[in-house]
Amino acid sequence: MCRTSTPTTTCPTTSWKSSGEPLTGIQIRPLGPGDDIDAELDLRRRAFGPVGAAHLAAWHASVRHSIDQGAILGAFDDGRLIGSARYHVMRQWWHGRAMPMAGVAGVKVAPEHRGRGVGTAMMAALLADVADRGYPVSALYPATVPLYRTFGWEIAGGTYQAVVPSRSLAALIPADAAGITERGGSGGGTGGGSGERGWPGGAAGLRRATADDGPAIVAVKGRVHEALRHCGPNTREPQELRDWLDKPDHFCYLAADGFLSYRWAKGTEEVAVDELLAASAATARALWQILASHASMAGQVRACLPPDDTVQWLTRESDVQLRRTNAWMLRIVDAPAAIAARGFPAGVTLSVLVEIADPVRPANSGRWRLEVAGGGGSLRRADTEATVVDPVRLGARGLAALFAGAPAGALRLAGLLAGGDCGTDDGLDAAFGAAAFLLDTW
Ligand SMILES: CC(C)(COP(=O)(O)OP(=O)(O)OC[C@H]1O[C@@H](n2cnc3c(N)ncnc32)[C@H](O)[C@@H]1OP(=O)(O)O)[C@@H](O)C(=O)NCCC(=O)NCCS
Repeated sequence: MCRTSTPTTTCPTTSWKSSGEPLTGIQIRPLGPGDDIDAELDLRRRAFGPVGAAHLAAWHASVRHSIDQGAILGAFDDGRLIGSARYHVMRQWWHGRAMPMAGVAGVKVAPEHRGRGVGTAMMAALLADVADRGYPVSALYPATVPLYRTFGWEIAGGTYQAVVPSRSLAALIPADAAGITERGGSGGGTGGGSGERGWPGGAAGLRRATADDGPAIVAVKGRVHEALRHCGPNTREPQELRDWLDKPDHFCYLAADGFLSYRWAKGTEEVAVDELLAASAATARALWQILASHASMAGQVRACLPPDDTVQWLTRESDVQLRRTNAWMLRIVDAPAAIAARGFPAGVTLSVLVEIADPVRPANSGRWRLEVAGGGGSLRRADTEATVVDPVRLGARGLAALFAGAPAGALRLAGLLAGGDCGTDDGLDAAFGAAAFLLDTW
């Protein structure tokens, strides 16, 4: 990522928007090492509730890290911090290819200053900063949606949670037919195989993860997202995982092609899985077997999963309750860069004229030729291209939802896509269609 310093913005006498008193003289700038971190903590508490004593040190370390990156913008009124917004440096995987992603978080304004346009002004500055630093995309979990829609973020995907009775996991069904084995042969699909002595299944390299395993975990997760051509999940900077991995009540296992992290919940009634990822049948079974081994204590496993996780096809009865829990939003910050970085299904070929209207990021606006072939895509200027066809027309929100896999027909009904025809809808669905998910919350 290129690092540019974020310019200070001082709001003009006229408000950016909104009801209440006009917004005057508010200064927006990145928090620096000299700023009072307790003022940020006070804002955090007023907006999102208490920070428990056990989490305070990790909170400080994480905020200091973001300040060092210039990734927290503060709104100051006469030198006093009255609002802030932050983003995490992340990577997001789109059809198995990673691209830099700014994970927006902690958008907050002091209660007595809300409704005057401070949040709007901060988000304008934050989006400009994210664009200046070259991020093609940005994602966030919205507590309220309108503020982000104003700036072109749109609901793009979900997090998915499965609840599985532990007894169902104790005897997973074998692979369907003789002859169905995995390529690469790391143990086959029957749950047998010869893994490390004492470890379940035949998962290659399965072992406990330690606090030093941040880089290995990020690498393995990336390999799984790539192999399974996942749409939406993120990875973090490895050093950010250290505190998480160091927690004594948090258990992590790492394999060559899989990762599991879980903890006890509701006393020991439940096993709560933060992440379970596996790119081979042997590793999937081995990780689920580790969870199943807790059946004598925990009645059920609650797991944050990709929506197409293997477990749905492995239990004897239809015992897996899977539901979408949180929605998250996506912003296509740099449309040509995002399309160039995204993966697409290898068999899809597409050439469509697209007209984007994005007044907040005008560089995305205009007529483009969207081409997809050989697993990759491109968006090139077509302003002068002579055509008789009606281009597909999108705003920033429609572009974000389409990019994340929403069906073109549904976007039409929602008023987020127009132009084109049934043929272009089919082509766009074949290229982008996905149930995008995140496993991480931030
Ligand atoms: C959400 C929040 C950051 C908005 O900041 P703000 O300075 O009040 O926002 P603005 O005055 O610029 O208004 C922007 C939009 O926010 C919404 N908004 C304003 N006050 C709000 C409030 N108290 N709660 C929820 N949304 C609010 C409005 O819908 C407005 O959009 P509009 O153009 O449709 O009127 C602020 O209300 C806040 O800190 N809320 C608590 C923390 C929170 O929920 N943060 C969001 C985390 S994703």
